[in-house]
Amino acid sequence: MQPVSCRAMPESHQIDLRAAVNAISDVIQNRPRPLRLFDQIYMKAGDMVLQSEFVARWAEGKQLAFIGDGDAISVCVAYLRARGIIDYGPSEIVVFDFDERICNAIERFADRERLEGLGAQLYNCLDSFPKPAAFDCFYTNPPWGASNGGESVCVFMQRGMEAVGYGGEALVVIADDDERLWPKQVLARVQEFAIRSGYFVQKMMPKMHTYHLDDAPDLRSCNLVFKAVGETGLRDKSTAIADPQRLANFYGRSANPHVRYVREKLRLEYGKAREDEYYLETLE
Ligand SMILES: C[S@@+](CC[C@H](N)C(=O)[O-])C[C@H]1O[C@@H](n2cnc3c(N)ncnc32)[C@H](O)[C@@H]1O
Repeated sequence: MQPVSCRAMPESHQIDLRAAVNAISDVIQNRPRPLRLFDQIYMKAGDMVLQSEFVARWAEGKQLAFIGDGDAISVCVAYLRARGIIDYGPSEIVVFDFDERICNAIERFADRERLEGLGAQLYNCLDSFPKPAAFDCFYTNPPWGASNGGESVCVFMQRGMEAVGYGGEALVVIADDDERLWPKQVLARVQEFAIRSGYFVQKMMPKMHTYHLDDAPDLRSCNLVFKAVGETGLRDKSTAIADPQRLANFYGRSANPHVRYVREKLRLEYGKAREDEYYLETLE
């Protein structure tokens, strides 16, 4: 098949679309089912292809931290490269997520496919960050903050900024919609927060991604790319977040965080049906 280009991809980065979609399909088969309760709402497959190629290009040669990654963009980035579909990407990727199912699924996939430089660490972003200033850039697709004016986005960004020592670059994926008021309020709040933290908006890629979101299938998200104004910034050391105002309506109205970790009960093969999902009616 001919390499395919699209509006989001420069000519020089044409990829074999069939091979890329099939690789993303392998990653999707490995993803745990999303828990809506914690805003796990997965990106659609076509958008994952373009997003992963963009992230690989953006973070080329860098150490990249993901603050949460149910979508598994981290895995796609590493896998597209390992499969030879792209020949660029970050030198190291670590995913910090509070869902053990997600962390384990990443580790198992990385192990099976021998994806060097991809790892995951169980971490709740309300706790102090375990590896400050260990990365060059961070990616987050956080809870979008519809009911708290974007504060949950700011909490995830704060952890990302700690991961990069308030230097480097950031890619933040949040809602982008002209018809609804709250995404515009959140976009404004997040940019204000970033500027106060020593970053500027380097690029805004509007309405890039769609999601498996039953009650708002048309809601899209954008890529907001931030860059630190200086080399690194001086900040207080990372501490836990306990301020009730920052935690109110974190995952939506009246959904304050009360869980430290989502634990894995069974090692499921996510691409296969469980025996309790069906029964067999035999031939007479
Ligand atoms: C909140 S979801 C946002 C939607 C995104 N499309 C997804 O499903 O991945 C992003 C990730 O953040 C993780 N997450 C949610 N709350 C967290 C927390 N308190 N600490 C760390 N990760 C968290 C989820 O497990 C998920 O993987």
